[in-house]
Amino acid sequence: MMNEDVIAEIDRLKSDRGAVILAHNYTTGDIQDIADYVGDSLELSRKAAECGAAVIVFCGVRFMAETAKILSPDSIVLHPAPEAGCPMADMADPDAVAAYRAAHPDALLVAYVNTTAATKREVDLCCTSGNVDRIVAAIPADRRIMFLPDGNLGRNVAAKSGRRMEFWPGCCPIHDRISVTDLMRARRAHPGAPVLVHPECRPEVVTLADQALSTGGMLEFVRKSPGREFIIGTESGILYRMRKENPGKRFFPLDPEPVCTDMKKITLTRVRDALRDLSPRIELDEETIRRAAEPIRKMLAVR
Ligand code: 13P
Ligand code: SF4
Repeated sequence: MMNEDVIAEIDRLKSDRGAVILAHNYTTGDIQDIADYVGDSLELSRKAAECGAAVIVFCGVRFMAETAKILSPDSIVLHPAPEAGCPMADMADPDAVAAYRAAHPDALLVAYVNTTAATKREVDLCCTSGNVDRIVAAIPADRRIMFLPDGNLGRNVAAKSGRRMEFWPGCCPIHDRISVTDLMRARRAHPGAPVLVHPECRPEVVTLADQALSTGGMLEFVRKSPGREFIIGTESGILYRMRKENPGKRFFPLDPEPVCTDMKKITLTRVRDALRDLSPRIELDEETIRRAAEPIRKMLAVR
């Protein structure tokens, strides 16, 4: 079957089911093209909370689809590739987080949204790369903070804000692999082009970059910038949207190109099958939804 036929089926099933398709900026171009909304983690959380659709098809990794279910518990949330997880989210085991909490009752647990629903049950507050600076700034200065699971993001925020924090041992394997050498090589190949990196990169990489931004922040930056060329230090799926939205500008990935294989597990045929079968669904028990919703809602309340 040709892609066009699969897309036609998706369109038909989508209207039959009253479904909305949400896709992360790292998904493949064909998925971004069929989505009703493409965005970063924060934007997609907000969309999930407000869309009120009977069915949400979430094209991204599992923790993102779980967040949609937590914020929209009455919707059927379909995750077309249930095995597509985030290796960093799995680095904060819920039992280990609960044990830390019991041993350190004075600490405020701030969790990057890249955590499983089971882990979110155990924390006080969530953040994304798009709001982490505001979230940390809103915490009273004398409060002890444990930041999890991304040690790179935590260290980058601490360096920027001057805030003392403790860090969980975790990182995004894709962004952690980006080196100073990769960045300098790209600068030599494209002199004058600003380097935009994701704050999940190592602090020494962030220090050498011109901007450290969420995926949504990068898209906004390149849209508003009068510049014509940009070096992009994040997962390569974002290049599709950058090029589509900015036809006169040029975007250069790092070499080697950072690829999150989990994000690529969402395919057109799997979206079609999920809509047809109303499966695989995200199923979370009521207690998990209730407890995990608290830190996410607190995050969304910080403007
Ligand atoms: P954003 O919230 O910036 O889209 O990041 C999500 C993510 O998983 C980055 O690796
Ligand atoms: Fe997780 Fe990294 Fe993939 Fe983002 S790029 S989903 S943090 S593994």
